[in-house]
Amino acid sequence: MLFNFQNVSAYRTTTLALNKISFTIEAGQHTVILGPNGAGKSTLLKLLYRELYPTLEDDGCMELFGRSRWNVWQLRERMGIVSLDLQRRYNSDIIGRDVVLSGFFSTIGNVREDELTDENMNVFRSVVSELQLESLLEKPFRYLSTGQQRRCLLGRSLVNNPEALVLDEPTAGLDVPSMFNYFDTAKKLITSGKTVVLVTHHVHEIPPEINNVILLKNGKVFKQGDKQALLTEETLCELFDVDLHLTLQNGHYSITPK
Ligand SMILES: Nc1ncnc2c1ncn2[C@@H]1O[C@H](COP(=O)(O)OP(=O)(O)OP(=O)(O)O)[C@@H](O)[C@H]1O
Ligand SMILES: [Mg+2]
Repeated sequence: MLFNFQNVSAYRTTTLALNKISFTIEAGQHTVILGPNGAGKSTLLKLLYRELYPTLEDDGCMELFGRSRWNVWQLRERMGIVSLDLQRRYNSDIIGRDVVLSGFFSTIGNVREDELTDENMNVFRSVVSELQLESLLEKPFRYLSTGQQRRCLLGRSLVNNPEALVLDEPTAGLDVPSMFNYFDTAKKLITSGKTVVLVTHHVHEIPPEINNVILLKNGKVFKQGDKQALLTEETLCELFDVDLHLTLQNGHYSITPK
């Protein structure tokens, strides 16, 4: 079991952002966590990454990779994350190479060159080649486009060969080719055995390979289950509190106003 949440609550200052949510995600159970603005998605992400601690009552538990206690650095080696939050924190002169290498240390850009092993550098080179990062390595992060920055961050998250990869709104700000590239990358990651957990408010970001759905609304799990059963017009109208039209084409969903 990768993630086991039972009656987990979380506060953001005084706001109860997650209210006794329960779900499990098994290894290989590629999942999308979908919900409107303010539903609690980013809060859930912070719980997974241990940037925020849950409030657990007696009947509550939150296990990551089968354990409830973690050294954050060890945890972050097993779980890659790509988020806007992370992207914003890298707003500096750091070059693409160091963004990727900082993954080995789970830091925001702090690369301890003397600790990098030959094995590390081999992994680095294979990730660079896999994600075609070659032309970005010497460029300052702030000069890269949104899509290029995100590819560097994906590289950063992959150097530790994580079991799970958490993607927060991965296509925000991407143009059409970059978005298609994201679908190809998601497919490759899934094929290579990583469990992908996508967090978003857009159904068009869901790669066809993801089948498990957790719908969040007002800090609660609204519904969860199989994608085909859950992603219906009726359920999504209820989730987003709006009349909408849902279409499905070649495994890709899209929403238009009704
Ligand atoms: N730093 C904060 N201080 C106080 N309240 C917060 C803070 N961050 C989030 N909240 C509140 O917690 C709730 C959940 O917010 P969260 O950011 O998790 O939503 P979200 O699902 O990620 O939304 P979005 O789709 O807009 O990113 C919201 O009611 C929000 O106003
Ligand atoms: Mg959010």
